[in-house]
Amino acid sequence: MATSYLELSQVGIEFDSRHGKFRALDDINLSLDRGEFVSLIGHSGCGKSTVLNIVAGLHEATEGGVILEGKEVNRPGPDRAVVFQNHSLLPWLTVYENVELAVNRVFKGLKSKSERRDWILHNLRRVNMEHALDKLPSEISGGMKQRVGIARCLSMEPKVLLMDEPFGALDALTRAQLQDSLMAIQAELGNTVIMITHDVDEAVLLSDRIIMMSNGPAATISKILPVNLDRPRDRLALAEDREFVRLRHAVLEFLYGNKSEPVTPAATALTDDAALDKRESITTEKKYRVTSGMRPLTAMA
Ligand SMILES: Nc1ncnc2c1ncn2[C@@H]1O[C@H](COP(=O)(O)OP(=O)(O)OP(=O)(O)O)[C@@H](O)[C@H]1O
Ligand SMILES: [Mg+2]
Repeated sequence: MATSYLELSQVGIEFDSRHGKFRALDDINLSLDRGEFVSLIGHSGCGKSTVLNIVAGLHEATEGGVILEGKEVNRPGPDRAVVFQNHSLLPWLTVYENVELAVNRVFKGLKSKSERRDWILHNLRRVNMEHALDKLPSEISGGMKQRVGIARCLSMEPKVLLMDEPFGALDALTRAQLQDSLMAIQAELGNTVIMITHDVDEAVLLSDRIIMMSNGPAATISKILPVNLDRPRDRLALAEDREFVRLRHAVLEFLYGNKSEPVTPAATALTDDAALDKRESITTEKKYRVTSGMRPLTAMA
């Protein structure tokens, strides 16, 4: 019955650790539509990267699986490109060559050499990096490296873009610029995106839905918050928007409030308001850490 574009079905994972088995995730169920942008949010160590790595095929789920366009995925592939917090450019290759590597991997034999060159330049232009083609990663700033990393991923025309705190290491201004670029690119290309973030404003600004995870061990999806703000979105206008403020508050409440509630697999597959009501009405006795204030979540492991 999997009709969604991307489906995580009953995903669980147990790691072998020095102290025996460690169950990081339990019964993760999530359906994404094509072109949907979802954020994963939750406390440090809850299992967000593990979810992303399972979708990327870098970790193998112990139970359940991931289905993309009707096919199970359990190994890495160019149909799922990953942007990490710290760029993963090869330091001995130039900006151009880093993107070329990815383009050759996917398009050699499909595009001619000059078509590939045009395509590389096109993708670097998308992120405003065509002026630095011949620079090495060590010669450009952190924000520029992330731009190249995004260009490299886009150049593979992945079905799904997986982003693990892509802007986490950047200053606020650069982060805002890259968020705007990402929104513009996604509006143009209709990418399906899963992004991990610790930044509540970023999650609300960019997402169609915010997936909020419970704390581990055996972390799961606690709540799903639909973000029904019109696009294109303007950060300045939204700062005063009542719905934006309400959504922002709902995420903060989840993260810093004193209780949250896991939901059933059936509820996480639904996307309408009725489903949200259903999710929010399901309660368990499970308690989570109580914190207050606006500390960075990374300080709360
Ligand atoms: N390869 C591994 N072996 C053993 N345990 C692991 C492994 N990878 C992750 N874990 C554990 O799984 C849990 C989830 O880790 P994960 O990196 O997914 O968290 P996270 O939510 O991404 O955290 P952060 O926000 O700090 O990046 C943690 O308790 C972590 O120690
Ligand atoms: Mg992580």
